[in-house]
Amino acid sequence: MCGIVGYIGKKDTTKFLLDGLKELEYRGYDSAGIALLNQNKIEVFKALGKLSNLENKISQVTIDSYPIGIGHTRWATHGKPTELNAHPHLGEYSYVVHNGIIENYKELKEELSSKGHNFVSQTDTEVIVHLFENYYNSLNDTKKAFENTIKRLEGAFSILLISKADPEKIFFFKHGSPLIIAKGNEENEVLFASSDAPLIGFTQSVVYLEDGVGGIASAQGIEFLSDNYSWSNLPTSKQFAQKDGFRFFMEKEIYEQGTVVSDCMLGRLKDEGICFDEIEPSLFDGVREIKICACGTSYHAGLTASYLLERLAKIKCSVEIASEFRYKQPLLTNDTLFIVISQSGETADTLEALKMAKKAGLKSLVICNVDNSSMTRTADYTILTRAGIEKGVASTKAFSTQTVVLWMLALYIGKLNSHLQKEDLDKEILALREVPKTLIVSDRIHEKTRRLSKRYLHGHGFFFIGRDVFFPLALEGALKLKEISYLHAEGYPAGEMKHGPIALADPELFTIALMPQNLLYDKIKSNVEELSARDSTICAISPLDFELADDFIKLQKTDHYMLEFFEMLVVLQLLSMEISIRLGNDVDMPRNLAKSVTVE
Ligand code: G6P
Repeated sequence: MCGIVGYIGKKDTTKFLLDGLKELEYRGYDSAGIALLNQNKIEVFKALGKLSNLENKISQVTIDSYPIGIGHTRWATHGKPTELNAHPHLGEYSYVVHNGIIENYKELKEELSSKGHNFVSQTDTEVIVHLFENYYNSLNDTKKAFENTIKRLEGAFSILLISKADPEKIFFFKHGSPLIIAKGNEENEVLFASSDAPLIGFTQSVVYLEDGVGGIASAQGIEFLSDNYSWSNLPTSKQFAQKDGFRFFMEKEIYEQGTVVSDCMLGRLKDEGICFDEIEPSLFDGVREIKICACGTSYHAGLTASYLLERLAKIKCSVEIASEFRYKQPLLTNDTLFIVISQSGETADTLEALKMAKKAGLKSLVICNVDNSSMTRTADYTILTRAGIEKGVASTKAFSTQTVVLWMLALYIGKLNSHLQKEDLDKEILALREVPKTLIVSDRIHEKTRRLSKRYLHGHGFFFIGRDVFFPLALEGALKLKEISYLHAEGYPAGEMKHGPIALADPELFTIALMPQNLLYDKIKSNVEELSARDSTICAISPLDFELADDFIKLQKTDHYMLEFFEMLVVLQLLSMEISIRLGNDVDMPRNLAKSVTVE
């Protein structure tokens, strides 16, 4: 989603801002801009589309020296993606960048327009800068003007504002969307960003701003407007920066899964059971039910977990899409443990669901990849997935680590409540140990998916079908394909095809059949046979040969269905990636999608 960067210091401000925005690129955006300020003037550059457009524009002019600057990548919410709607937004003499949504912008716009303010964009953001100038014009005090501005805003607003009225300062405020302020490694340097990535290597000391915290920064120091903030250390590793020789971040991240899943299990997977240092057994006291809430790929991990939790831990588990959960007036009882799953920890719908559950007095746990994210700061407990930064918009390693954490959690609870027999626990642990190996991408499988991909570039749709945990996996396979190939795909429970979708079956309907040997093989086989009898084109993924398949991807033989699950996952990820590559799409940054959706 939208990204923010800001800089005060002696470095090349333009370069810092552009480099920072590049680090945020993976979150998705449709336009970008920067504003630069010195004692004499403000200069602004905006461009539609990729950051390289903005860079080209800037490279064509000679730029003065500017010790202060703010930058933004925008993902359109209010108003189309146009240059005029791109941030930073101008009043008469000030500029603002903003993440979030100003919910009362219409009223404010009317009020300010009647006072003579002239609006040029269709955005909600523009009201902020006019409101500020409106107050400044009467108060002649930038701090008071900023404070008054903040008081009038409703909704989500993390902002940086600069003004010729006070040309040595950046005014900042965080509410709703994430914002970090940092002391730069150089003297008198202050940095801002909406997530860690642009700051790594430039600072060691940061404040992850809490909602409602803001202030004024200059080379002379940082003044916070309230005292609920604390400094923490920023990790220095920049291992995520390169593609390591892979064509796309998505490809690199698919290949990384074996390693990150090992990291994820480190210290947690023991011979005698599962150990999570970050939670206490008392968390489960009085818990009779688990409710999981998430969006997108994380929702699919949740759905997979619901099978494992009920089967292994014998605990009731329901899963809901966070955006649906928010408005259904859900019944929440105190015997329910509320689990949210999120790669980013910032997805607005999931965060809101978590806040609702907390308000209702439920215990909460987040399974997340980003420490210090809004969700990890909100939930009672956090289990980190340790997948490392995921840059491809289509989530891959986040999903495998989430699923492994949830599988481990099911075993943890099963042992705790004594529903899981020792013998079964041992079997599960043995299987878990095999997951990293199963996730290693073999040349054979990658080459097979690459070759097969050329046969699946057309048709009137894909059905990914599976049963039990292979149903959520089918949903995930279909989502991956949709996201990066733009082909229509659906995930479906195989047994449900006969209740409607089978009417679509013909040779141009591609069925990707997930046929594990270790779980309901005969059932899925007969479902696929029904489709084959209606002439649907079948691509079967299974360790067992299947004669009716038009295409066949053979898996290794294992003795646990979850190992088949992870091996199939890799196949599905590779297949969609190879199809997307053949179609000439932007694999890492598919159209219309954002990595982290921090607005509703
Ligand atoms: C976006 C991303 C998906 C992701 C979903 C949930 O839609 O494009 O890949 O699964 O958000 O994100 P989260 O960070 O909460 O897991």
